[in-house]
Amino acid sequence: MEACCRYCGFCKQLDRAAVVLLAKMKTVENDMEQKRTATLDLGNGSLPLEFPIMAGSMGPEVVDIRSLHARSGVFTYDPGYFSTASCSSKITFIDGDAGILLYRGYPIEQLARQCDFMEVCYLLMNGELPTSDQKMSFDNTIKEHTMVHEQLARFYTGFRRDAHPMAVMVGVVGALSAFYHDAMDISDAAQRELSAFRLVAKLPTITAMAYKYNIGQPFIYPHNNLNYAENFLHMMFATPAEEYKSNPVLARALDRILILHADHEQNASTSTVRLSGSSGANPFACISAGIACLWGPAHGGANEACLNMLEEIGDVSRIGEYIKRAKDKNDSFKLMGFGHRVYKNFDPRAKLMRETCHEVLNELGLQNDPLFKLAMELEKIALEDEYFISRKLYPNVDFYSGIVQRALGIPVSMFTAIFAMARTVGWIAQWSEMISDPEYKIGRPRQLYTGAATRDVVTIALRK
Ligand code: SDX
Repeated sequence: MEACCRYCGFCKQLDRAAVVLLAKMKTVENDMEQKRTATLDLGNGSLPLEFPIMAGSMGPEVVDIRSLHARSGVFTYDPGYFSTASCSSKITFIDGDAGILLYRGYPIEQLARQCDFMEVCYLLMNGELPTSDQKMSFDNTIKEHTMVHEQLARFYTGFRRDAHPMAVMVGVVGALSAFYHDAMDISDAAQRELSAFRLVAKLPTITAMAYKYNIGQPFIYPHNNLNYAENFLHMMFATPAEEYKSNPVLARALDRILILHADHEQNASTSTVRLSGSSGANPFACISAGIACLWGPAHGGANEACLNMLEEIGDVSRIGEYIKRAKDKNDSFKLMGFGHRVYKNFDPRAKLMRETCHEVLNELGLQNDPLFKLAMELEKIALEDEYFISRKLYPNVDFYSGIVQRALGIPVSMFTAIFAMARTVGWIAQWSEMISDPEYKIGRPRQLYTGAATRDVVTIALRK
């Protein structure tokens, strides 16, 4: 705006009119974009229905069918949610064909190589990577919450010593809601954040306690002078009888495993957490539900199942027999650690996990680890087999994670518990994203009913 017009005011009005006109043109342009619709003709003589097509910042567009039932009386049908977007989210993006995984826009390869797990937790929870000051303050906040209530420790004694750690985790994490009544108002952002801090901070303590209980050793308290991964290894492997020093290479490997497992869009356990949270359930109960879902061998339980499978195969000479079984429709056996609902190309996490495998095995002088060699041979054979190629079955994050964890001295039964510990930050970030959206509603899917039509009860004496 010219200096002369500072006082006349006329140009100022012109200026303002131009701004308004530009804004209107932008709205029309956006409207044009938003007006793209999908047409559905139900073939029953009713008028075709138009549904808006929505575009995200990346990835597939969606057809907004929220009004379908109200306008037509029909539901969509999508068991297993092969073609259903359950929500909009800014947290994680996956392109399964391109093998891309982004946390808040950052490629997993860069995060795994340049950041530590606390930076990634901050990123997932806040949307941006922390500055050094923000990271220090976040680290300190998490460290303030690493201990658990002494009464909580007594819950473990209710379990058999040989209880699966995941059974213990489901119970103990759910029980946290019995201890934190001071921060269960989920409508209060500060209380949601406090619960998120508590969960991220306490999961390593609870997970390590499950292991110590299982082997009959005393619980080890967290040490706040250690970083997240070092603290976990310390609580897992230290004993009161001697000084424990964690190997920095192994601690860094565990830190990377945690980063790779931190979040993964709307997978089964994350969807479980969201659905549980949509009823207003407290965050501890929701995370406990997520742990229960993750336990399944088709999901997070695959890493434990994969290592058990490798041990069962035992030798390269037996790989063919198991590949044959995996292809046999009459055999329920699946190649654990292979295949993925979304990745139809390499799971980028599997590549990073294999790299971590090499690093850890080299550090430990286990380059010739027979199980790792067996896994690499199995991967090679499977990737050359038409059955796997045609179905786009590649190794997923679980294929190598078991070998790395075993090399770190972590027992197989703890693998999925560590997956749950890592995924807790993703679950709670997704839960917070949903709860902080004032538009969220309770999730209530419908069904295609194929049962008996209406009929009358016959009294028992007359039933045949
Ligand atoms: C995780 O969703 C996520 O993001 C999960 C996860 C995360 O970070 O949260 O990435 C973590 O859960 C990884 C996946 C871990 N699970 C496993 O490794 C278990 C083995 N994988 C399979 O159970 C299976 O691949 C799934 C469950 C992972 C995916 O199954 P889908 O998408 O439902 O596909 P499908 O079962 O319909 O398989 C398609 C075809 C079928 O053959 P056809 O009927 O076409 O002849 O591929 C076959 C399947 O039989 N198949 C396999 C196989 N996986 C799929 N055959 C042998 N071995 C396998 N592993």
